[in-house]
Amino acid sequence: MNLIHFLNKMLQICNQITQELFMSEVNTIESTLQENRLFEPSKGFVSNSPMNADALASLYQKAEEDYEGFWGDLARKEIAWVKPFTKTLDESNAPKFTWFEDGELNVSYNCIDRHLVSSQHKTAIIFEGERGDTRYITYGELAEEVNKFANALRAQGVGKGDRVVIYMPMIPEAVFAMQACARIGAIHSVVFGGFSAEALGDRIEDTQAKVVVTADGGYRAGRIVKLKENVDKALANRCDSVKKVIVLNRTDNDVIWQEGRDIWWHEAVANMPTECKPMVMKAEDPLFILYTSGSTGKPKGIQHSSAGYLLGSIMTMKWVFDVRPEHDIYWCTADVGWITGHSYVAYGPLAVGATMLMYEGAPTVPDAGRFWKIIEDHKVTTFYTAPTAIRALMKSGDDYPNRYDLSSLRLLGTVGEPINPEAWMWYHNVIGYENCPIVDTWWQTETGMNMIAPIPSVTPTKPGSCTRPLPGIMAAIVDEEGHEITQPNQGGYLVIKKPWPAMLRTVWGDDARYKETYFSLFGNDMYIAGDNARRDEDGYIWIMGRVDDVLNVSGHRLGTMEIESALVAHPKVAEAAIVGRPHDIKGESVMAFVVPKGNRPVQGDDTQLIQELRDWVADQIGPIAKPDVIRFSDNLPKTRSGKIMRRLLRQIAKGEAINQDTSTLENEDIIKQLQGKA
Ligand code: PRX
Repeated sequence: MNLIHFLNKMLQICNQITQELFMSEVNTIESTLQENRLFEPSKGFVSNSPMNADALASLYQKAEEDYEGFWGDLARKEIAWVKPFTKTLDESNAPKFTWFEDGELNVSYNCIDRHLVSSQHKTAIIFEGERGDTRYITYGELAEEVNKFANALRAQGVGKGDRVVIYMPMIPEAVFAMQACARIGAIHSVVFGGFSAEALGDRIEDTQAKVVVTADGGYRAGRIVKLKENVDKALANRCDSVKKVIVLNRTDNDVIWQEGRDIWWHEAVANMPTECKPMVMKAEDPLFILYTSGSTGKPKGIQHSSAGYLLGSIMTMKWVFDVRPEHDIYWCTADVGWITGHSYVAYGPLAVGATMLMYEGAPTVPDAGRFWKIIEDHKVTTFYTAPTAIRALMKSGDDYPNRYDLSSLRLLGTVGEPINPEAWMWYHNVIGYENCPIVDTWWQTETGMNMIAPIPSVTPTKPGSCTRPLPGIMAAIVDEEGHEITQPNQGGYLVIKKPWPAMLRTVWGDDARYKETYFSLFGNDMYIAGDNARRDEDGYIWIMGRVDDVLNVSGHRLGTMEIESALVAHPKVAEAAIVGRPHDIKGESVMAFVVPKGNRPVQGDDTQLIQELRDWVADQIGPIAKPDVIRFSDNLPKTRSGKIMRRLLRQIAKGEAINQDTSTLENEDIIKQLQGKA
């Protein structure tokens, strides 16, 4: 059965596709919606927004009629250039596209300096630590901190084009460090604090970073995450490129110090001037590298540009988040270790001069009311989070949100995975008081910006659909030959038919992998997102999940091969296969089928090995990649040509009846073992 056929078969059972995916005991609210139920933007929201249907229609029209002019005009208007560009888009070296190539700018100048005349005393960042400490940082103070740290980086030998790995908690210094890199033209690569020393080391090696910026620790879920310790482990016996490690004292916990290499943040900035002239950068100079999982090999270093990326963040802050810098308190809960924390924490909100909130810790400390308390305390107007967080908090019951006044909210957002309609409705009713548009934003590390999302003052929303492509984003759904599917509700590949300014420029150091991954299937004009999607009768897009072997665990991408490689590196493992398994909170969880070396432990006697392997994966990649379930078998089911029968494994993971021919299996008992029945 080919993929499209398979997808369409799936469609029959997934009229409520996302409900199907997340069917669970969390579904406390009975689904009262019909599939096509529309939620119009509230009247109050519409009347206050600068965007209306006519203005939006003319944006679409302009993008359709004059694509380059559309983006060129926006870039001229929204970015402060040192030297204006003369050519908007160069496609001559496709798929290596360039935007605004001869233009010059500095991204940190755009995010900070240009607001100083009018907004020096305005709060740029409201910070709340997990233990309740708060800080209010004005644009003037932000400028000082970023300038000082930029000078400190320079003093440690970092120059234009050098790589700096940032492994920090969710605290303002993480943003200072990112902006400081942008200021001096260094390329940052932020590694999520939840990744292990091993994963951190891989990323440092791949970037050949000169400096690592970290903290002694960070507060998370009532514990101290020992970041410096992980850096020490990552650097032991490898990563020779690293000359200095700058360590912020966040938690005062003991750290091992390597003289000559390690330097405290406060000492590094102590005598630094509060001014650092922004480096003049070319539009296409890389701003950052961010690693993400694919279906093959090690995670890819997604390389983003300066000007195009900045433009994408700015436009989506305006279009999708309807930002009003005068009175919005914008809170995106994503960690800076993910793309959402880049575009909608470190860059977008600052680039438009807004006030944003950063929270260091877990949503459940001290209880499941923490997010709602923060919203009440700081009068948050715009709240952007992931379906996994919404589902987890929904499961804790309505009492928590009901204890707080959430009436400051005017817009809600979601990102990272399909949101099931039950969670959507709860978000709408209990958090948004039926009054806040919900923007379900589809995008990726590679796209740099929201791509498919509602315009909140114009687009009626449907629970579970990310609605329509944004202006200037030429998204389409195509069949296996790359032909556009025009019939409604036919599943296919989600592609983008034209380059857009914020798109990735390459995979760090590996143009071939860039071309192979994103442009090999349908040629250099069509970016393949790797997702299945369908468009309904109203032209609304519904994301149906990945076409490849990439899992989406709590909105985080994990390559099955990455986890399989980690498992087979364990001395007791001969073979391993990873598949996703539906999970009520995480969306998908990791399930591992393992062929052990030597004797297969029988059920009941396997708990020790299971624990050992789970810890091993956490050490190799990070706790997010830990398999929730591990089953041992004597062999893995394979086709005649030796390929692992993954669809069969997926059926087993879901507890579904097996409808595949298993007669090729030498030992039919294996199925029972995989099912945990033998
Ligand atoms: O499968 C899609 C899913 O997350 C993938 C991108 O993951 P990542 O690069 O880690 O970026 C996540 C945050 C932007 C996509 O290929 N995804 C992202 N947003 C949505 C989504 N699936 C459904 N609906 C969304 N709104």
